[in-house]
Amino acid sequence: MAALNGIEFFEREDTHAAYQARRATGKAPNEVMEEDAFDELLGEVAGTDILDLGCGDGSYGRKLLDRGCASYTGVDGSARMTEVARHGLSGTQAAICHGRIEHFALAERAWDIVISRMTFHWIVELGPILARVAAALRPGGRLVFSVEHPVITCCSAARPDGEHRSHWLVDEYFVPGARTTRWFGVTVEKFHRSIEDYFRLIHASRLRVADLREATPSERRIPDPAEYRRRCRIPLMLLLRAEREGG
Ligand SMILES: C[S@@+](CC[C@H](N)C(=O)[O-])C[C@H]1O[C@@H](n2cnc3c(N)ncnc32)[C@H](O)[C@@H]1O
Repeated sequence: MAALNGIEFFEREDTHAAYQARRATGKAPNEVMEEDAFDELLGEVAGTDILDLGCGDGSYGRKLLDRGCASYTGVDGSARMTEVARHGLSGTQAAICHGRIEHFALAERAWDIVISRMTFHWIVELGPILARVAAALRPGGRLVFSVEHPVITCCSAARPDGEHRSHWLVDEYFVPGARTTRWFGVTVEKFHRSIEDYFRLIHASRLRVADLREATPSERRIPDPAEYRRRCRIPLMLLLRAEREGG
């Protein structure tokens, strides 16, 4: 079977269910590492209009609405995910759109904040999307996104199927592009970019990198000492905050 892309993986009934079940444990790295770092980079959201690219089940949208954002719009390419998001956000002001990020129409100067969590490493061509995001942000607006860390996306040769990884291989780090890897028991295609690549892509649009995180593990969120030590071995996520200059 051909490798699944980022929409096909989340659309298939079995892989969607396995992924959602993992997230529902509350113990996935997204919950215990990435979300805190993301919140920190995102900052104050009260009164802002927020667009979420690859919104998944929309649960972060609910949190942003609870924190007082003026509006939340999520886009996702998986019909299954958008259905879950619409259901979870029913009764709120949220708008959930089904469609590819690559084709989503972005009006100019329409958003204060554009976010994307753990989605851009599924995207083949990020440059054109960042250019459209830059134009879609109001002056002073910000883009905050997280991706799988480049030391993870560069090479999956040391990744056993269905087991905890005990060692990692960093290889072909400076070779950007597609990587096939095993994920939740199937073969998927993700896209590797170095930290420098992300930095350059951001600066090639009308945005400037303002801050960065690597989702440093905390004992508060990972109280089991063995799990905490394991999570301290290698970075899993890279998060960047980019800002649109005034004018
Ligand atoms: C890892 S999930 C993350 C979901 C959510 N942002 C979160 O952090 O919980 C990635 C999401 O991106 C969506 N996605 C991947 N590639 C996409 C594309 N090209 N266009 C739109 N959505 C895409 C998938 O359907 C999936 O819901």
